This record gives sequence, structure tokens and C-alpha cells, in this order.
Amino acid sequence: MHIIGHRGASRDRPENTLSAFEEAFHQGADAIEFDTYQHDDTILVFHDRYLHRTTNGQGRFKDSSLADLRHLDAGHGQTIPLLSEALLCIPADAWCNIEIKSLRDTQQWLEQLDKAITSARVSADRLLISSFNHHWLTDIKHHRPYLTIGALTASYTRNSIVDATAISASTLHVALDVITPEYVRDAHNAGLKVYVYTVDGHLDMLELESWGVDGIFTNVPAFARHVLHDEPH
Ligand code: G3P
Ligand code: MG
Repeated sequence: MHIIGHRGASRDRPENTLSAFEEAFHQGADAIEFDTYQHDDTILVFHDRYLHRTTNGQGRFKDSSLADLRHLDAGHGQTIPLLSEALLCIPADAWCNIEIKSLRDTQQWLEQLDKAITSARVSADRLLISSFNHHWLTDIKHHRPYLTIGALTASYTRNSIVDATAISASTLHVALDVITPEYVRDAHNAGLKVYVYTVDGHLDMLELESWGVDGIFTNVPAFARHVLHDEPH
């Protein structure tokens, strides 16, 4: 079962910063997940609509200029990363999940992604693109069929597996509250991998592993390694 650092190692470092990403891999994560916004002519790594929770700024993320955003302190002197900077943190044997929170223009977004991939010299097969917005994923898959797509869902609907298959997703990203062993079995039968968010408790980790879940998003990668691989943390 893959251990995916949720917003990096976000219990120990400021979430969605380069420091959190480096720490996640240091703690033995197989991958990291981070949240992204399309902003002006680039893609930035950020989770909230507003600035105040995770930075020393105020107001809405989308109302701030790129220059102002890049001057904010995102915790411990960290800046809000560019996508290209985040991709540079990925070791050669690891991968990352780019979650799209905001996408304004698909064509521009794809060009921005291409630029970030080229500048970080990361191969596209180490990226998993996910979103709760399946329209964006459909568009992205249409224009870049070689990209791997993950369908995010916060609820268990009868159709979530069918929907994920219909948009050519490879993975289904499911909330911990709604996952069941039957759901895992049905998704696997449909050819989908199952990743569960957000899993920080040891009983949940062990149960999900016993159900054959393929990966967990966790804020505590070192603890997950300890629980799942019996390693010190
Ligand atoms: O991608 C899994 C998880 O990150 C989705 O929820 O709000 O933590 O981005 P959120
Ligand atoms: Mg996320």
C-alpha cells in the first residue's frame, strides 16, 4: 500500500510547501499529494480559497497578484511554491499527485503543466492528476491521453465507480468516511486503484491495508511507515 504525503508531511512542516514535500520523502513516503490553483500565467501550490489560515496574508487567493502571493510567508519562512518547484522535489523513484482546486482555462493549464514538467525534468508518468471536478479531468485526458487521471469523490454514490471509468480514470480517491471493503472490491473489479484520504490513525491504516487499498493520503508518513512496515519513526 503506497504512502502518499497529504500536502507533504503536513503535520511536521507547513502544508503544501517545499519543506513539507522534502520531509515527506525523508520520512519514507512513496509519493506526495498537493493542491493547485491556476493563477495568471502559472500554476501555484495552495489549498484554501482564503490566505489567512496558512499564510501571513489576508483576503482571497484569487484576488492577490502573483508577486504578492510569492512574497507571503507560508510558514517557517516558506513561500507558496510554483508547480515547477514542487515537481523538483520528487525523487527519481517517487511520484506525485497534483490535485486541481482551480482551473480557469484548460489549454493554458496544459501549456503551464508542460512548462513545469520540462523545467523540472520530470517524466509525465510520475504524475497523477486528480480533482473533484471531473469536467476538468475529462478535458485534460482528451488533450493529453497519456496523463494518468484520478477521480476524487467525497461520497459513496452508486455511480462513482462507473463515473470514474467513464472519464478514463486509473484511480479512485475516496474519503475515509465512506470507504468499505465492498467499494474496494467493486473498484478493483472495474480496473481502478483505490486511494483513501486522509488517514492518520493506525487502526484505519491496518484495516485499509487488509481490504487491499492501494494507497493512503496521510499527514504523517513516518508514522504510516512505522505502522505498515513496522519501522521506527
Ligand atoms: O486529494 C485528497 C485530498 O487532499 C482531498 O481533499 O481538501 O485535503 O484537498 P483536500
Ligand atoms: Mg488535496
